Amino acid sequence: MSEGVIVCDGLVKTYNAGKLNEFTALKNINLTIKEGEYVSIMGPSGSGKSTLLNLISCLDSPTKGEVYLDETGISTLNDLEKSRLRREKLGFVFQKFNLIPTMTSFENIELPMRFKGTSLKERKKKVKELLSLVGLAAKSANKPTEMSGGEQQRVAVARALANNPKIILADEPTGNLDTETGKKIIELLMKLNREEKRTLIIVTHDSKIAEKSDYLIKLLDGRVI
Ligand SMILES: Nc1ncnc2c1ncn2[C@@H]1O[C@H](COP(=O)(O)OP(=O)(O)OP(=O)(O)O)[C@@H](O)[C@H]1O
Ligand SMILES: [Mg+2]
Repeated sequence: MSEGVIVCDGLVKTYNAGKLNEFTALKNINLTIKEGEYVSIMGPSGSGKSTLLNLISCLDSPTKGEVYLDETGISTLNDLEKSRLRREKLGFVFQKFNLIPTMTSFENIELPMRFKGTSLKERKKKVKELLSLVGLAAKSANKPTEMSGGEQQRVAVARALANNPKIILADEPTGNLDTETGKKIIELLMKLNREEKRTLIIVTHDSKIAEKSDYLIKLLDGRVI
């Protein structure tokens, strides 16, 4: 079976259902993303991009509909199975890096492997590989506050790749970076997509990033347009 396939079937997400401030952020989203595709998601602020990414990454559950990852319906999994799936199949890159401030680059990148139970020897080898992949071999012992924004985001990319995920999800990964640094991050993600066939989904406001993707999903008011 091919890996890294994502299907969204009739996704609806209503926040605060039944309350006065009820809000339907996603209204019947149907999508199929195939293994190894590079897909970008664009849309105005509040159109539901992060909500969609959160549902695909099983960080949140839909009000209606189902997300299938490699043909498994996420709603059929318990919390333990969901966290295992997240750890083993998915890698995230966030807009605000979300690195652990008290940990060095090495420790931040190593963390997902510790959760998975990878041996120390293997972890060391993999972190070294990843640090050189993102061009930060010299910053292994630095903590996030001791690095530039672009460097922190590269650590975050390395961390996302620690468990060799087949699917990489990035929510505005260059939102906090200057154009040149942002370009480097995107090139790195695209390289992983091209050379290692990893499925890549990037939420972006930058049409230059979207132009390079296999296709673009445009959201408006919770619908694909
Ligand atoms: N936890 C929540 N409770 C209530 N409403 C929410 C919640 N999270 C998001 N929303 C609402 O759902 C809509 C979609 O939010 P979402 O974060 O998906 O937008 P977005 O497209 O990612 O926007 P941005 O480009 O600003 O990041 C917004 O109107 C938002 O106010
Ligand atoms: Mg968002």
